[in-house]
Amino acid sequence: MVVGALPEKTSTFLSPEFLPLPCQVVSAPEGIPSHLAWTGDDLAGVVLSAEQIHARIAELGDQIAIDYADNPPLLVCVLKGAVTFMSDLMRAVRLPVDIDFMAVSSYGAATKSSGVVRIVKDLESDIEGRDVLIVEDIVDSGLTLNYLRKYLGSRKPRSLEVCALLLKEGEQKVEQSLKYVGFSIPSTFVVGYGLDVAERYRNLDGIYTYKGVGS
Ligand code: IMP
Ligand code: MG
Repeated sequence: MVVGALPEKTSTFLSPEFLPLPCQVVSAPEGIPSHLAWTGDDLAGVVLSAEQIHARIAELGDQIAIDYADNPPLLVCVLKGAVTFMSDLMRAVRLPVDIDFMAVSSYGAATKSSGVVRIVKDLESDIEGRDVLIVEDIVDSGLTLNYLRKYLGSRKPRSLEVCALLLKEGEQKVEQSLKYVGFSIPSTFVVGYGLDVAERYRNLDGIYTYKGVGS
């Protein structure tokens, strides 16, 4: 597996000032471990191992703690996909953060988001005047995040930023200002570490390329 040098720019849609914390670029998936034989032929290979993910989350946690040292943020997890990331990230941020959850559902084909988002569960917290950090699993077209930003932004938080574990290279339909990105990955459909296809594979501890039906 190759994790390349930190890029100055991660995609043609994102200028460097949008990514003050450089993300790591991932390429060349390897084979899947034998203990995951139950996944059948649906997975093509490892994109990120659990070790790589945890190492990167430790870096993200440290950076967030530095950036928000004076004003610990409210971490908003976007269910369900970000639940695993949130659970590790909140423990990596050594500040007294608060947490809350939103659940959204995006209408569209099996593996593509349509940008039409339905709020399935809203926040319990009042975010007016607060420093809010949205914790997302993956930014593909960016349509879901775009909707969420407008939705939460209208409640007048003091700041509203995003921490996304994964960014799919070159797929963004709307320009995204992402304060923190874990990894930039090639544009393939991936599962594991919270990410699913039809609710499956969320409990894999690494991230894998999905090559089953619908991808
Ligand atoms: P977007 O609106 O196209 O950016 O899609 C965002 C949402 O679609 C993510 O939060 C995921 O829930 C889902 N999604 C996008 N790409 C993938 C993928 O490769 N695997 C699993 N879910 C994905
Ligand atoms: Mg998501």
